[in-house]
Amino acid sequence: MARPKIALIGAGQIGGTLAHLAALKELGDVVLFDIAEGTPEGKALDIASSGPSGKFDATMSGTQDYADIAGADVCIVTAGVARKPGMSRDDLLGINLKVMKSVGEGIAKHAPDAFVICITNPLDAMVWALREFSGLPHEKVCGMAGVLDSARFRHFLASEFNVSMKDVTAFVLGGHGDTMVPLVRYSTVAGIPLPDLVKMGWTTQDKLDAIVQRTRDGGAEIVGLLKTGSAFYAPATSAIEMAESYLKDQKRVLPCAAYVDGAYGLNGFYVGVPTVIGAGGIERVVEISMNKDEQTMFDNSVTAVKGLVEACKGIDESLA
Ligand code: APR
Repeated sequence: MARPKIALIGAGQIGGTLAHLAALKELGDVVLFDIAEGTPEGKALDIASSGPSGKFDATMSGTQDYADIAGADVCIVTAGVARKPGMSRDDLLGINLKVMKSVGEGIAKHAPDAFVICITNPLDAMVWALREFSGLPHEKVCGMAGVLDSARFRHFLASEFNVSMKDVTAFVLGGHGDTMVPLVRYSTVAGIPLPDLVKMGWTTQDKLDAIVQRTRDGGAEIVGLLKTGSAFYAPATSAIEMAESYLKDQKRVLPCAAYVDGAYGLNGFYVGVPTVIGAGGIERVVEISMNKDEQTMFDNSVTAVKGLVEACKGIDESLA
């Protein structure tokens, strides 16, 4: 059987890391697409040259021509601009919306059967716009945010408890922004919920609250340190986890920006929720029960994303 084909739209910091991880994991052959001439070709050649030492078989190519993504099984979209210090993800809206239009049209024409994972920010609005521009089925277009946000939460928790992060699970719902909702009740160490760990004296409520806030600000903390761009290792690793679940029909339960129609009281809206990712794409949206406080936080997050979607409609009339 031929190897799967993975098209990476955007060959910047995240795109290059995605290509390297896909190669190391032998997920398939990789095509890097970018408008910057030479960048995708250079990264493809560099990564391909690491194959003998990295011990992987995968072809790598770079292109400025959408025709070269033809028949891709997976498209991961990072095209656009990234944040600089002082910018919020929402500040990227106008520029990246135009990019989503060209990317959506390119995917619709050349890779209409692909599973599409959007990473470009502001994530929840961009994945919605990308779906609208591409016209692909909703279950085949999703956004990477929840895996990254919960990975950051898990990392901070594992450090606080001095335990393996493999045994820490965490749930983060809502939009990928300041209003994201880390769900403490559903986050555990080996099945023990965080509120119980506070009672057991593993940490204090104040420390836990600080970790929740650090998770919300996790992206901004890295932007502040890097100064020239935003995070790329963890975002790429998170998207690869989602792509692998689709390609291998693993049916992983992963939080991501998915089209929610009916669950959570939403009618046709992209926002971060737990999902099952398998060969059918987003095969299921998992609806969990929330208490009053959690519901209020989730509603605030949905309202923030709705504001961004409305702003998109104001910028591009074809979306209205
Ligand atoms: N089509 C294809 N590629 C494009 C387009 C376009 N219309 N416009 C810009 N690009 C390319 C740029 O040439 C650049 O190589 O997208 C790439 C973006 O790479 P970086 O600037 O390195 O950004 P990166 O860190 O990879 O983040 C990409 O993901 O997390 C989000 O906020 C982040 O929106 C940003 C995106």
